[in-house]
Amino acid sequence: MAIVDLMVYLNGRLVAARRAGISVFDRGFLYGDGIYETIRAYGGHPFRLPAHLDRLRASARLTGVRLPGNGAGLAAMVRRVLAANRLADARIRITVSRGAGGPDPALMAGLQPTVLITAAPYLPPPPATVRDGVRAVITRVVRNDRRAVDPAIKATSLLNNILASREAAGRGARQAILLNPAGEVAEAASANIFWVRRGVLTTPSLAAGILPGVTRAVVLDLARRLGFSVREGRYLPAALTGADEAFVSASTIEILPLAWLGGRRFPARRPVTRALQTAYRVTVDAERGG
Ligand SMILES: Cc1ncc(COP(=O)(O)O)c(C=O)c1O
Repeated sequence: MAIVDLMVYLNGRLVAARRAGISVFDRGFLYGDGIYETIRAYGGHPFRLPAHLDRLRASARLTGVRLPGNGAGLAAMVRRVLAANRLADARIRITVSRGAGGPDPALMAGLQPTVLITAAPYLPPPPATVRDGVRAVITRVVRNDRRAVDPAIKATSLLNNILASREAAGRGARQAILLNPAGEVAEAASANIFWVRRGVLTTPSLAAGILPGVTRAVVLDLARRLGFSVREGRYLPAALTGADEAFVSASTIEILPLAWLGGRRFPARRPVTRALQTAYRVTVDAERGG
């Protein structure tokens, strides 16, 4: 099915994507003035939807983007979009822009937000990629300073992340790892990062300036349940580049091993990553009731 044949939810109505229209004055389009969430559905069940909606509310608070009813109706709407498209394994996106208004800051307050929910069939990565991992590089592009657009906001203005991904692609890598302005490891362009050294699972803390990933929280919880030592903190790149294992996490990619970082290949044995990948699948299956 082509994506234009899908049904989307736009400002209170289910409409065909090919007929859905957004104002040419929409501030999301003009200025990247919006917030969003990407959610994975398994067998028709949107995984950890409440956590995603909580984060959307947090993004709304931090940006002043209005969320109709504080997001109360969104869960039902997500399910309606999935059902309307008869989707089981899907990639869902909720996007909320500040609304359609010109550049005049005086007019920003009273705007009606634009709310869009889309869902498209999920295309899984090849099993070999999930098993063997992808190539990553640490980019020259750094993650936003927390005093600028705070990385805790899941903002539609993604140009910084896109420039990092383009740099990584230009250097032959699929994952861009960004440092924060202090030179510490932050996260990937659209995923959080973890590594393992001598059996200890480590990830940058929220204080390093990262998005508080929903998948990251699941991984940390699973790791503790499995009895792994877990550390969150602020780390220079040497901690990552010298690791025994490394992986990135995000709703759509789940847990994806890194095979290479720059010119260094990680060992092929990844016991902690494998255990977490398996535990993640078990959690997904349990929560979707099958
Ligand atoms: C910058 C960034 N970090 C981390 C993540 C992972 O977040 P989640 O696990 O909630 O999908 C994403 C997801 O898109 C992201 O864009």
